[in-house]
Amino acid sequence: MKITSICCLGAGYVGGPTMAMIAAKCPDIDVTVADMNEARIAAWNSDELPVYEPGLDEVVASAIGRNLHFTTEIRESLAKADLIFVSVGTPTKSYGIGAGRAADLRYIEGAARLIAEVSTGHKIIVEKSTIPVKTASAIKTILSANSSEDATFEVLSNPEFLAEGTAIEDLQEPDRILIGGEITVSGNAAVEALASIYSRWVPRERIITTNLWSSELSKLVANAFLAQRISSINSISALCEATGADVDEVARAIGTDSRIGPKFLKASVGFGGSCFQKDLLNLVYLCESFGLPHVAEYWRQVVHLNDWQKTRFVEQIVRTLFNTVNGKRIAILGFAFKKDTNDTRESAAIQVCRDLLREHAHVVVYDPQVSAEQMCSDLIAAGVSEALLDSNFDVVDSPYTAAEHAHALATLTEWDEFRELDLEQIHSLMLKPAFVFDGRAILPLEKLKALGFEPFMIGKGG
Ligand code: NAD
Ligand code: UGA
Repeated sequence: MKITSICCLGAGYVGGPTMAMIAAKCPDIDVTVADMNEARIAAWNSDELPVYEPGLDEVVASAIGRNLHFTTEIRESLAKADLIFVSVGTPTKSYGIGAGRAADLRYIEGAARLIAEVSTGHKIIVEKSTIPVKTASAIKTILSANSSEDATFEVLSNPEFLAEGTAIEDLQEPDRILIGGEITVSGNAAVEALASIYSRWVPRERIITTNLWSSELSKLVANAFLAQRISSINSISALCEATGADVDEVARAIGTDSRIGPKFLKASVGFGGSCFQKDLLNLVYLCESFGLPHVAEYWRQVVHLNDWQKTRFVEQIVRTLFNTVNGKRIAILGFAFKKDTNDTRESAAIQVCRDLLREHAHVVVYDPQVSAEQMCSDLIAAGVSEALLDSNFDVVDSPYTAAEHAHALATLTEWDEFRELDLEQIHSLMLKPAFVFDGRAILPLEKLKALGFEPFMIGKGG
């Protein structure tokens, strides 16, 4: 089956960059990204893309208007496509059965119903979103119950493994492409059709094919294992602080064992991002649903440890500042959940700022990519009142302005520019003692001490 027209439902952090890469690599395939969010689509069609991602502008520019289109005309785009990616959000359910753990699949179901309504002929439907295992079965049921007689479908799972901040590199040279399908003649043909798109730029040996359920589950398990490594090293960061060991040295020492490996062992104030917590909770819920409470409890601890890491960071600040931050100016450097993205979803900064505001601190934030509007809406969603934001929260456009008359400074995102700060100037701007809380362990500890700061660094004892 030759694919000439692709539609992707969802123009978010995954749908936009992923489809831009496919369009750039396959000029003969028409790729349309459709979303009902008019502002988002308008931004994709403008010079200021809705997603900040190094290298993304160039990839979009190479294909937009040629074979890459962003539109709100969802039905028309679906009707003409041979292959449809479903890349809509799958947030944690906030209501009813499974609230706080299960994935909310309403957007997936909405997408399936819409596809069924407008489809004729044969179409391949590809799950790009991260979903609980067995979702393909629900999609198939909805499609067959709601479509016209001449419509036939093959449902594939093709989870996305890109990380924000490195999305273009990850799409350009993925460790692997995973495609799950039904082991039937038409299932195999659909898997091959999708594989032949990726094989334009990904070596065949990196394209792994499995059955549907293994593919769906592998995505949740990959994120769970990555998050588990961070919680593991963060648990050790607390022990390092208590004993005088250095977590970076421990990470280097254990990471040279090829069975462990060096990646994802950087201690931090806690992992954030839209997916780790959501997918761990989703896995916990799945295990509970399948009668496996011990497995559920095991993975739940990864989330608990992450929450504790954020809480103990704030407690450290309050304790060090003589048990009160009331009225004190705290400079926060970084609000994004990691460097090189404007995404703040589940960022550790949200909890840290919220808890400092609840202690009546005056919080002043600098982040090179996140807007003040975004920060305020995140903090309001986290339960901070507008009155408290008005009186105790400011966003500034330089780390030096943030540091002026500050009692303490905390780094929460590892932006490269924070490694190059003029620390002498920062010290002269701050009140004394000049307390620094490095939640990313990126500042030079010995230099900070020599300049007269009182530094606390995640995972560094002594
Ligand atoms: P997002 O919230 O940025 O984008 C989802 C988009 O889908 C929204 O713009 C929304 O308006 C749109 N949408 C919802 N229903 C629709 C419909 N019926 N028709 C058209 N558009 C519709 O989400 P995201 O970060 O791109 O994540 C999407 C999925 O990919 C999630 O399941 C997530 O877990 C997974 N994922 C995300 C990342 C990441 O780095 N963000 C990485 C890998 C996988
Ligand atoms: C993560 C995975 O890395 C991707 O493979 C996956 O596709 C994606 O989730 C998803 O499913 O959404 P992402 O959340 O974008 O990607 O970014 P990561 O680089 O994984 O970082 C996640 C969080 O962990 C960040 O807050 C980061 O600062 C933190 N982190 C990461 C650490 O604290 N220490 C580390 O060693 C690595």
